Amino acid sequence: MDKLNVVVLTSDIDLRIYIKNRIIADDIVIAGYSDFSDAAKLKVLGMFPDIVLCAATGSVGDDIFQFIQNLLCDIHGCVVVLMTDSIDVKLASTAAQFGIRGVIPLDISSEELEENLRRVYFLEQQRLLDTNVSKRVRSKSIGFFGGKGGTGKTTVAANVASLLAKKGKRVMLVDCDLQFGDISLAMDLEPKDTIVELVQDRNGITIENINSFSMIHNTGASVLCGPKSPEYAEYVKPEHIEKIVDTMRPYYEYIILDLPPAFSDVSISALENCDQIILVYNMDILSLKNAKVCVSILDQLQFKEKVKIVINKSMNGLIKAKDFEKMFEMPIFAQLPYDAKSATLSVNKGQPLVISLPRSEISKCLDSLTNKIIHDD
Ligand SMILES: Nc1ncnc2c1ncn2[C@@H]1O[C@H](COP(=O)(O)OP(=O)(O)O)[C@@H](O)[C@H]1O
Ligand SMILES: [Mg+2]
Repeated sequence: MDKLNVVVLTSDIDLRIYIKNRIIADDIVIAGYSDFSDAAKLKVLGMFPDIVLCAATGSVGDDIFQFIQNLLCDIHGCVVVLMTDSIDVKLASTAAQFGIRGVIPLDISSEELEENLRRVYFLEQQRLLDTNVSKRVRSKSIGFFGGKGGTGKTTVAANVASLLAKKGKRVMLVDCDLQFGDISLAMDLEPKDTIVELVQDRNGITIENINSFSMIHNTGASVLCGPKSPEYAEYVKPEHIEKIVDTMRPYYEYIILDLPPAFSDVSISALENCDQIILVYNMDILSLKNAKVCVSILDQLQFKEKVKIVINKSMNGLIKAKDFEKMFEMPIFAQLPYDAKSATLSVNKGQPLVISLPRSEISKCLDSLTNKIIHDD
């Protein structure tokens, strides 16, 4: 059986720790924590919980019930369980009215808690089978990054997004290189609207707006293009990036972020909101040196666990893949060969390599990189 994903809802830090210590079984994992703020709903949806475990001490306020009711309107296949130290008949009845599937005491033992969670989830699955409602997809956000321009971040991001879409995945490619992004060029798109129009729209960053301001490439990938001119970059703030990714998560299996070769407020916010960071570097001494600085900063930002390294434009030379592996103590995630002829042809055609030259060696390597990304899930 798959592991049960639990999201714990409480703003009380001590309660979060208490619950964390109570869930010890291997088949139940805590996917994250949240509170009951307005912004929390999207966060919770993005964590794709099987169970939302809502915990409270003292009387359970109406705001908590309202939040749960709101959440349950948007989430399918997930059950909400309330854990409290003040159970009475009135509370149990109110909880049932708001769609909460179980009310359990705070001082319950670990085994009983775990068994309770398994049982409510199992019963919910049975109910869903009867009503034929399917759960939504789990999403993964991947940033293509590196502190050096020209290494192939945009090329790899555009090709991976195209391949994921061709493999039937729901994909959104976002150009986060706000000053000099060229995703629209790589995908041969002429956007009327871009990320700038999206963040400025008076209706805010909603999934409806994201869909209407993005374009659909002929591979099936959705693309949110970057600003038409560098001076518009400043309209996009770090919090916009977070909201964009959070809003997209319930609707796209893969969110691919093409990032600029620099640490800025916006790129750091994007990196923070990535589940995986793929650093794209080349096999030369400048790349190796740059990668060292970049990984050390990512480490300070506590993002290192999310990092994978891809070597692009790989060829025989003084620097070898194992130099990167030794320096970063991690295996190279993928190597893509140097192929200037194919790369230039594809740029001139405005088509990703995997579309214009699907049988080339580089396209085959991009394909196995994409499969690795899928299986890494
Ligand atoms: N594997 C490759 N072999 C040869 N040239 C490549 C390869 N990958 C990308 N390029 C070329 O390198 C240049 C920079 O690529 P780009 O993806 O724009 O880099 P970045 O986004 O890192 O700045 C482009 O001209 C692109 O066509
Ligand atoms: Mg680029």
